[in-house]
Amino acid sequence: MDQTGRSLISLEGLDRDDILWLLGHAAKFEANPNSKILDGKIVATLFFEPSTRTRLSFETAVNRLGGRVIGFSDAATTSSSKGETLKDTIMMVSNYADLIIMRHYLEGAARYASEVSPVPIINAGDGANQHPSQTMLDLYSMLKTQGRLDDLNIYLVGDLKYGRTVHSMLTAMRFFNPTFHFISPDELRMPEEYKEYCRNNGIKYQEHTCFDEDTIADADILYMTRVQRERFTDLMEYERVKDMYILKNDMLRKTKPNLRILHPLPRVNEIAQDVDANPKAYYFQQAKNGLFVREALICNALNLLK
Ligand code: CP
Repeated sequence: MDQTGRSLISLEGLDRDDILWLLGHAAKFEANPNSKILDGKIVATLFFEPSTRTRLSFETAVNRLGGRVIGFSDAATTSSSKGETLKDTIMMVSNYADLIIMRHYLEGAARYASEVSPVPIINAGDGANQHPSQTMLDLYSMLKTQGRLDDLNIYLVGDLKYGRTVHSMLTAMRFFNPTFHFISPDELRMPEEYKEYCRNNGIKYQEHTCFDEDTIADADILYMTRVQRERFTDLMEYERVKDMYILKNDMLRKTKPNLRILHPLPRVNEIAQDVDANPKAYYFQQAKNGLFVREALICNALNLLK
């Protein structure tokens, strides 16, 4: 695997074997989540954007593996608020830490950080661009619930324009012959560059604006996403689209027995609360899977996996 001991910025550099190898290690960490493999290592978490799951699961992963965490969850408390550049921040933190996990509001920030950093960078989300660790836990959740990654019908619903998790998923799934269904309002359609990526990589997709029980009847995976208020420059447009797609329990009557509902979370109101008790709802277990996957990604970035 050419990513061993290196930064993880997107999943573009991983092939099918790399992905399955990392997911295999995630399964080993799930069986045995606590060890001392990171003893003596310091990991920095730099979050320039809010987060609950990504930051806390990465930090839990470090703690469970015997390492130590430094970092910040609010850039306003750091010298970047005084005008320090991202390059200087990365250079400083790399003096103190063996690995940097960074979320940033600017697309391309993680790539840039990896180009100037002497230590590996894991991209924990860069604007509307990529969120590779989320995608790896999404794939792990699909593998666990479906028993395979090949030949799945995957329905992506909601904000496909700004949703970095769905953009990363396209990249990772190109080895597994998926059929994607993109369900979104016109304003939030999958950007042309990602549809072109699908066409260039032989990934089948259909686009829909209708979201009802007939449209989703053939789904193996229903991947709901939040309409992200923070990405809109026109808040009137946000108000117009924010409640267009809400999954309700009675929409699941015709769905396949193996269907599982995923969501990167946080949700606002795109999944009604009554879905939570449905056995097909998997989003809370999905978030838990993030811990094991991130244990594997951290150890891989530090070249500690065999
Ligand atoms: N899925 C995800 O990235 O959640 P957080 O924003 O809470 O980290």
